[in-house]
Amino acid sequence: MDIKIELKPKSERRTTPFKPSEPLPFGKLRTDHMFMMDYESGQWNNARIVPYSDFHIAPGAISLHYGQSIFEGAKAFQHDDGEIYTFRIDKNAKRMNHSADILCIPQIPEEIQIEAIHTLIDIDRNWFPLQEDASLYIRPFIFATQDSLGVHPSNTYTFAVILSPSGPYYAEGFTKAIKLLITKKFHRAAPGGTGSAKAAGNYAASLKAGEFAASKSASQVLYLSADNRYIEEAGAMNHFHIDKNGTVYIPEFTDTVLRSITSESVIEIQDKLGVKVVQGRFAIDDFIKDIKEKQITEAGGFGTAAVISPVGEYVFEDGSSIVVNDGEIGEITRHIYDYYTSIQRGKIEAPKGWNRKVERKY
Ligand code: PLP
Ligand code: COI
Repeated sequence: MDIKIELKPKSERRTTPFKPSEPLPFGKLRTDHMFMMDYESGQWNNARIVPYSDFHIAPGAISLHYGQSIFEGAKAFQHDDGEIYTFRIDKNAKRMNHSADILCIPQIPEEIQIEAIHTLIDIDRNWFPLQEDASLYIRPFIFATQDSLGVHPSNTYTFAVILSPSGPYYAEGFTKAIKLLITKKFHRAAPGGTGSAKAAGNYAASLKAGEFAASKSASQVLYLSADNRYIEEAGAMNHFHIDKNGTVYIPEFTDTVLRSITSESVIEIQDKLGVKVVQGRFAIDDFIKDIKEKQITEAGGFGTAAVISPVGEYVFEDGSSIVVNDGEIGEITRHIYDYYTSIQRGKIEAPKGWNRKVERKY
């Protein structure tokens, strides 16, 4: 499959660099354009770049009623050579197809997804936010458009990509450790379900849990397995903890855990980072005991939006809590953060293929 992207841009493109005067929020701003492509009669076609604007969607569209919708989250960075590079975008394209498979959505060849994203960034490249810790957040998504109230896979879809010049996910950036709530009340995923997909419905189902966490002064829930025995995820991040020997532990990628590209990247560069990473199933009871006995010395979450978020405290429903590293950001967590973000920003040489240059074509 080959695509020709039709350009229907605004007559004027942003020509001056974007230097925000205020700290940028995460995910609120948009650039001038978006990418769209439709699936009809068994084929993806009509690839186009158009001004950012509202969609026309049938009130009976399957995505609105039954949530047949998936998305990705990726980032691009401007390096010192003035060029923009997407970070591990092939991994996002691959995971989009994994999610598509789970939600009965037709797949899109990875290179076509990447071409769509790169072309859009090329056109809106001057929207890259020139501000410390900021990036161009990339949000590709696919949603079902067939107007039908029967519960079945749609026969039509739209793939779209929007861009958001963004600051850190947590406004305080990498300055403060967050709190997580340990609860058995809410679960994110169950075996045989959609937990390993970036399915829109997974996030809708996490909202109540997020509010419950906030009511206990925590940023998010530490999700446990459906049988309440093992640690799975931390809100919209993979969870990690570090023991006193400096080993980093990340829950195994099962069908109830999203295969985080940040986690995968940390695993791939563990030698360069000088840490050992182990994946497995970690019992919540052992985890709590090990924190109390100071066998576990650091913890946090990995994710594209949140990057590496240190956790300083785990709160329980009764208001009691346990503290990790006196609630401060740990040394190894900081080292991983510094190294990882330096790779993303082109300050340290990246493994081959991780940073992909957005060519200047338009
Ligand atoms: N887990 C969940 C549930 C997420 O939504 C995300 C965010 O994408 C992650 C983990 C982290 O994945 P990644 O590092 O690929 O962004
Ligand atoms: C990301 O980290 O890119 C995500 O998709 C998380 C999101 C729900 C903000």
